[in-house]
Amino acid sequence: MTARVYTIASGKGGTGKTTTTLNLGTALAELGKKTAILDADIGMANLGLLIGLERSKVTLHEVLSGNANISEAIYEGPAGVKVIPSGLSLKGFQKSDPDKLKDVISTLSEGLDFILIDAPAGISRDGVIPLAVADKVILVVNPELASMADALKTKALTEMLGRTVEGAILNRAALEKTEINRNKVSELLGVKVLEMIPEDPNVRLSAAFKIPVVIKAPNSPASIAFKRLAAQLAGVPFIEPDTNKKKESFVNRLARTVFGGK
Ligand SMILES: Nc1ncnc2c1ncn2[C@@H]1O[C@H](COP(=O)(O)OP(=O)(O)OP(=O)(O)O)[C@@H](O)[C@H]1O
Ligand SMILES: [Mg+2]
Repeated sequence: MTARVYTIASGKGGTGKTTTTLNLGTALAELGKKTAILDADIGMANLGLLIGLERSKVTLHEVLSGNANISEAIYEGPAGVKVIPSGLSLKGFQKSDPDKLKDVISTLSEGLDFILIDAPAGISRDGVIPLAVADKVILVVNPELASMADALKTKALTEMLGRTVEGAILNRAALEKTEINRNKVSELLGVKVLEMIPEDPNVRLSAAFKIPVVIKAPNSPASIAFKRLAAQLAGVPFIEPDTNKKKESFVNRLARTVFGGK
């Protein structure tokens, strides 16, 4: 078995690539899929920070500089997702050779179902290599024109490298009419919109707790969207949680605490 390798890219910074990599990866692991998430943003590593792995001694830096084996840089993450963080030091970044990423991914691929690669923003060498090593690229966009323009450039670059874009994720979507909506995104980018992830304060809150939102707030709007996307990629049906029922059970629980009884 070799893994399906998706690179999560955007062009523009701050669209939600790292958040998506972490939560989609965790949701795939929750579905029982053997999944690894890898921080290829070797200059501005963030993935480890989101789950408290920032002090890891061996990271992708050591692997890309030839000082460690990939097996030494794999950490156990939430729900059993395997995490390969990058280091925070500039020295480690300078020593890293991104050209080694291809071999790292093919070694890692053995025995896994999915590998998600968190790509850096921009189209520097560090940004281009993650596109080139993917089976498919997933674009994370926000509902604004600058994000669309950069995603379009990233799509063109992906195709120049002989790779294809699986689709786009419209992150931080609100339901205002003035916004660039699902159809518009698909029309502008010429790709399918795989999922819309709403703007959700639970995302930042969970980051502060260093826990993925799909675990910290599993029924929050963003978590439901991440899980729906994971089910889509894994090819399994998604059962929408009954959030009303959850509310009711909370009220029941409260009543039980206050009034006693069952
Ligand atoms: N759906 C969302 N709702 C609310 N906040 C979000 C959402 N998605 C991402 N964010 C917040 O937006 C910020 C940027 O997200 P993230 O770090 O995932 O982006 P990125 O594309 O990886 O950025 P960079 O290009 O710098 O690597 C973070 O503070 C994150 O918590
Ligand atoms: Mg990031």
